Amino acid sequence: MKTYEKLLLENKAWAGEKLMDDPEFFSRLEHLQTPEFLWIGCSDSRVPANEITGTQPGEIFVHRNIANMVVHTDLNLLSVLQYAVEVLQVKHIIVCGHYGCGGIKAAMTQHSFGIINKWLRNIKDVYRYHRHEIDHLPTEEEKVNKLVDLNVQEQVMNLAKTSIVQKAWKDRNAPHLHGWVYSLHDGLIKSVFEMEANTHLDPLYEFDNL
Ligand code: CO
Repeated sequence: MKTYEKLLLENKAWAGEKLMDDPEFFSRLEHLQTPEFLWIGCSDSRVPANEITGTQPGEIFVHRNIANMVVHTDLNLLSVLQYAVEVLQVKHIIVCGHYGCGGIKAAMTQHSFGIINKWLRNIKDVYRYHRHEIDHLPTEEEKVNKLVDLNVQEQVMNLAKTSIVQKAWKDRNAPHLHGWVYSLHDGLIKSVFEMEANTHLDPLYEFDNL
């Protein structure tokens, strides 16, 4: 059997099990999506949002890219964000990084990776803002993991700088923003940063006409 054929077979088995447990499972979800959470995570195959949080289809709206970035000119991210915040009206947005992230590691090197350099530039900027907190750490692993923490924090702040989030904060006092980091080592998530609705930012980034 080809590897991809196994996926289709597994899918059949999964759908059958779901129906056995709950005959209404698919018919209920077919017509309604009301997730409470938007998840912005890394594309890394080892960090699947639903599996590590024990959530089911319908519970988390998901966007993933290399190193869980919130880049304010990324039309893909912004479209997901606007839909999640304005249409689905999610209550929480979670940016979830992970230790040992390959995107973070790559951004800390001087190596050229081709097109991806343009994406990694955003991470290099985060490194530059926080150099003094990172460079004195004794090992490479600690440096990478410190940047993982700080990057998550920076991406949560990038969310707060968008007019989409600021307008929702003003209109409905939500969503609550969370910065989490997942450990590949023990499978546990820890919270490293959060911003409740209407937390004040540097006024330079606060819109006064929303
Ligand atoms: Co990663």
